[in-house]
Amino acid sequence: MVKAAILGIGTVGGGTAEVLTKNRELIARRAGQEIELKYILCRSPRPGHPFESLIVHDIDTIVSDGEVKVVAECIGGATLAYEYVKACLEAGKNVVTSNKELVAEKGLELTTLARRKGVNFLFEASVGGGIPILRPICQCLAANEISSVCGILNGTTNYILTEMIQMGKSFEQALREAQEKGYAEADPTADVEGLDAGRKICILADLCFGKNVPTSAITTEGITKITPADIEYARALGYKIKLLGRAIRTGPNSVTAFVAPHLISKANPIANVDGVMNGISVKGDAVGEAMFFGPGAGALPTASAVAADMIDCVRDPATRVYLGWWPSEEGYVTGPDKLSCRWMVRTGAPLERIASAFSGVRFISVPSAPPEEYAFITQYMTGEELSARTEGMQVLARYRVLD
Ligand code: HSE
Repeated sequence: MVKAAILGIGTVGGGTAEVLTKNRELIARRAGQEIELKYILCRSPRPGHPFESLIVHDIDTIVSDGEVKVVAECIGGATLAYEYVKACLEAGKNVVTSNKELVAEKGLELTTLARRKGVNFLFEASVGGGIPILRPICQCLAANEISSVCGILNGTTNYILTEMIQMGKSFEQALREAQEKGYAEADPTADVEGLDAGRKICILADLCFGKNVPTSAITTEGITKITPADIEYARALGYKIKLLGRAIRTGPNSVTAFVAPHLISKANPIANVDGVMNGISVKGDAVGEAMFFGPGAGALPTASAVAADMIDCVRDPATRVYLGWWPSEEGYVTGPDKLSCRWMVRTGAPLERIASAFSGVRFISVPSAPPEEYAFITQYMTGEELSARTEGMQVLARYRVLD
């Protein structure tokens, strides 16, 4: 029997305790031995909580207990969680986490530390919630040169956009519902401004391309500026607006990674990933395109991945599962403005101004459009070129089109 601890008793920590308890026997069969939850770290007492008897308040109780071999970090953030994870790894314990902020910010250091200490540091739940994606990239697709990874990486914003697109709800109304359903983080800024998806695309890029992509090197744009008018124009052409994280190999030693809302044709499977679901496409030189789809948030889907990582730590302690990457050089990550694509532009500029700046545009007409407003799809051009052509023009919105 192996003893385990969970740090944090929030949505994911509570879900993990529930899964370990509910599926105790099958987990024991698959892990080769029973995983017994010995402690749950929680700041304050929880009278009446189903796991009250396991609650401790001091991390040292866990770090100094040699019986505890596996720790699931479910606190969130990159400060306390970082200190605690480091202390556990230093003490020779296997650590698993769902914490994308921690992995995106400190993953290089923590995977290196885990390797030095001969233990696992696993984080399958940090991207795509319950979707198996990091192991498939590192193991099943290990023979591929990966050229790009792209996906809907945030369940909250996908839920909000789906409600806006399908039900005509306002952003505020849809956000409130996402919070009530427990999808949104306590502070929804990280979701709606694209920071959460940004952390996830950094982790995907780290693993797909093998070198560190710092969160500070990528650009992120969220969904707060998307209007019902933009949704209508997109719909008129058979597109949906989705928030995508994308990472693309742009040269032998360079990648571009960013998060931005895109127009996606309804014919693209990613466009039909709705609600809280996430969908991720990985392109490799041998496999072609592989798609991964499933629940990207929520207590039990995330706990499913956390508990599976715990099983991996226990199954064969002598064989570590190594997920890791290497440091990157200055200039490794380049901005997305040099990528060429078609764009949807919504503008209050007069027709003559549009005609003098662009050729071959396709205008979109919707009955609800105000008289002095135009929306159109451009030819392929970089973001830099689009900015140059629209200089001095009143641009109300601009979106990349994913082809
Ligand atoms: N807030 C995140 C989301 C939780 O909505 O996707 C899962 O990482």
